[in-house]
Amino acid sequence: MRAAGLFAGIGGFELGLARSGHASELLCDILPASKAVLAARFPDVEYRDDITRLRTLPASVDLVCAGFPCQDLSQAGRAAGLEGDRSGLIGEVFRLLSRRRVPTVVVENVPFMLQLNGGKAMRAIVDEFERRGYRWAYRVVDTFSFGLPQRRERVLLVASRVLDPAEVLLVDDRLLVRPATDLGRLAHGFYWTEGLGGLGWAVDSVPTLKNGSTIGIPSPPAILMPDGSLIKPGIRDGERLQGFEADWTEPAESVARASIRWSLVGSAVSVPVAEWIGRRLSTPGIYDVERDRDFPVRGRPPRSARFDGKRRHAVAIGVDALGIRPPHLAEFLEHVERAQPLSAKATLGFLARTRRARLRFEPGFIEAVERHLVLMGGTVPPRPVPSQLELLAA
Ligand SMILES: C[S@@+](CC[C@H](N)C(=O)[O-])C[C@H]1O[C@@H](n2cnc3c(N)ncnc32)[C@H](O)[C@@H]1O
Repeated sequence: MRAAGLFAGIGGFELGLARSGHASELLCDILPASKAVLAARFPDVEYRDDITRLRTLPASVDLVCAGFPCQDLSQAGRAAGLEGDRSGLIGEVFRLLSRRRVPTVVVENVPFMLQLNGGKAMRAIVDEFERRGYRWAYRVVDTFSFGLPQRRERVLLVASRVLDPAEVLLVDDRLLVRPATDLGRLAHGFYWTEGLGGLGWAVDSVPTLKNGSTIGIPSPPAILMPDGSLIKPGIRDGERLQGFEADWTEPAESVARASIRWSLVGSAVSVPVAEWIGRRLSTPGIYDVERDRDFPVRGRPPRSARFDGKRRHAVAIGVDALGIRPPHLAEFLEHVERAQPLSAKATLGFLARTRRARLRFEPGFIEAVERHLVLMGGTVPPRPVPSQLELLAA
């Protein structure tokens, strides 16, 4: 197929599609850092920046890929039709589809889009595709089951006027049992920038790489290695954790500071996920209608669903499409020598938050963090004294 990549970022979709035999005809992203990466990695593909200034898509295009910005979700949820001035950037995609009725569209976003305002954004998007004569299917999948040691759930939606999207997205379903915590034997990832309300605990993997932490700085999660060291992986391993080759985003440093690379990697589509969709677009499978369930008329939409041209169905399917077990995280990391130990300041800040938290931590985890702090020359803050009630409960 010939694809247009809207909101192309660093080209996660495009690289995956190329690996499955498809070609990109147009790339569009407003960020100069994205432009620098795309220009270096796809030098022969036409590039445009602001989607709002893109008049139309090339006539040759038969596939549109759009991982639109998550900040835009609430906007989509508010709009009645999605082509108006106030419908946000996803509205721009529909504006372009009005000009050229591209047969197949792939959309990617965060699973939160199924919850936000009772799933209004998702309902608005599928309503709009139906109105335009597309069948659709969507599904939450986890990058972990594509053989990468990262826990990353994303919603993928395929809408098409020429093929049955259920035969692309809703065929592969191979459950992968997640490993259990095993400090001292496996590596464990977590968000060192959090620790109060959540932790993102990920066994033998890293939690979802994000485009910015809750404190607004693009940074990697921390990893507690089997030998007890507490590290922040280097960007080269960050790129590999998304399925890119190491240094894929290096060209961004010609126009922005180096830390932007974490932000770019955190926003990207995992390459093997895009590659899987590309393969299934070329070779659809057979959808098993036994998976069909009732689609709720109102409220939060299900995690997986389809529209067969007449009716909507919820679909009973898991997040593990391919079921490829990733290598152990500790062995996957190739650039550990460039990884930094989590600094004393960062470790202390994290520990201080956990002291105030009402979270349950895995036995031995807090002690491991404390040992790291001492090694880094810091002083371990006092542990909170348990209340009478907590003592009784214990
Ligand atoms: C979630 S990211 C998509 C990442 C991409 N799928 C990848 O694999 O790297 C959203 C992208 O939309 C881009 N964007 C935001 N506003 C835009 C606009 N007005 N026109 C074009 N791109 C825009 C951002 O720069 C960002 O790269």
